[in-house]
Amino acid sequence: MKVPRALTIAGSDSGGGAGIQADLKTFAALGVHGMSAVTAITAQNTKTVTMIHDIPVEIVREQIRVVVEDIGVDAVKTGMLHTVEIISAVADELGKINAPIVIDPVMIAKSGARLLREDAVNTLIEKLIPLATVITPNAREAEALAGTEIKDVDDQKKAAEKISSLGPKAVVIKGGHVNGREAVDILYYQGEFKIYVEERIDTKNTHGTGCTFASAIAAQLAKGYSIPEAVQTAKEFVTSSIKYSLAIGGGHGPVNPTGKVVKEAEKFRVIENLRNAVKIIEESDWMADFIPESKSNLVMAIEDPEGLEDVAGIPGRIVKVDGKAKASSCPWFNSSKHVASAVLTLMKYYPNLRSAINIKYNEEVISAAKKLGYVITSYDRREEPPEIKHVEGKTIPWGVKTALEKIGWRAPDLIYHLGDWGKEPMVILFGEDALTVLEKLEKISKTMRDNR
Ligand SMILES: Nc1ncnc2c1ncn2[C@@H]1O[C@H](COP(=O)(O)OP(=O)(O)OP(=O)(O)O)[C@@H](O)[C@H]1O
Ligand SMILES: [Mg+2]
Repeated sequence: MKVPRALTIAGSDSGGGAGIQADLKTFAALGVHGMSAVTAITAQNTKTVTMIHDIPVEIVREQIRVVVEDIGVDAVKTGMLHTVEIISAVADELGKINAPIVIDPVMIAKSGARLLREDAVNTLIEKLIPLATVITPNAREAEALAGTEIKDVDDQKKAAEKISSLGPKAVVIKGGHVNGREAVDILYYQGEFKIYVEERIDTKNTHGTGCTFASAIAAQLAKGYSIPEAVQTAKEFVTSSIKYSLAIGGGHGPVNPTGKVVKEAEKFRVIENLRNAVKIIEESDWMADFIPESKSNLVMAIEDPEGLEDVAGIPGRIVKVDGKAKASSCPWFNSSKHVASAVLTLMKYYPNLRSAINIKYNEEVISAAKKLGYVITSYDRREEPPEIKHVEGKTIPWGVKTALEKIGWRAPDLIYHLGDWGKEPMVILFGEDALTVLEKLEKISKTMRDNR
């Protein structure tokens, strides 16, 4: 299999938010092998850049030369280049590479620090920009390169046309710094404009957006996508990286290029665990006895869930058919309200207890659980304050909290209630994952049989 290979030529951000750190995360998240030629070391956090150390030009050149010679490069991205000497050397090396080149003409950091010396702008224009497949200035950089003011999308278009005359194949003027409800980026390519629109996310944690965007374009070009397709993916990718951005540090927190892939991988593991649990349920001769009138649901949440959409369950629940337990359908997310909200509430206090099943209440279940040494607690629905009773979705969080309070905040295995008018009594059994929950249930079942 051919692995796409991308090279970033950029500065190091010790805070891990922008620069080569953001570029390599982006390459990894998009399935591309990332390589780096470091041009400068910045001492940087979310608030400020305190020191810049330029890497000797010979070492910058050598980093590029050796990876090209041995590994090969399918696309290049350049970021912070800082000085006339570094730009000239990089332009010289890039002249020898036959691969698409994305140039992010980094001039000023989010914190306001200058990352390109003023005297180097001309060198950038003369030597580097003519080599670009795509150049990705933000509004301020585009103003400096085009010599025009940018206040809206029309200004972005005008600047794109002007910058295009400097020799790049395609120009993207990013709209992060242009006012508007949406973040609008303009691509000018082969004499035509394409407009990319995504919602503007209201956050200060946007450290690294520019680097992430340009590297995502490079990653897609490395895979052979066209320029407009690469920009489309990059736009979606940077938006999701901002959605998953991290509120760390006192300034602009970093975007999170791997946020979405990590979450999706986690969702896959949850579904896999539930599927295996469903197999056990359907093969068992004991599950059917535990299914209540209102049916059972088995649920499991991903780590750090945001809401019901991050908890998987069985759509249509688990039912009794011919004396055997049967899942109505395959596990999926957002398919349980009650049991899922019990898990979400519990996870606020015990984040490891991510799974649960609801079963029919009877005294035998409770005494078997006691015999097994399980931590048991309960709540009384009749004590539910009216202001909670009458609001949809508040009963279970209230019940779980009340039950935890009652045992002095210990991690429970089992929470039950004895019902109320029109409400069946119910037991909820908790565990780290769905398989663990079923192991506990099987033990309860065995103990009940031994007791008889
Ligand atoms: N708040 C936001 N919500 C959604 N998208 C955004 C937001 N801020 C920036 N973007 C998008 O992020 C990408 C980078 O744009 P931006 O203009 O911020 O680059 P930049 O100034 O070079 O970033 P950096 O300061 O990291 O170098 C663009 O696609 C832009 O539309
Ligand atoms: Mg930038």
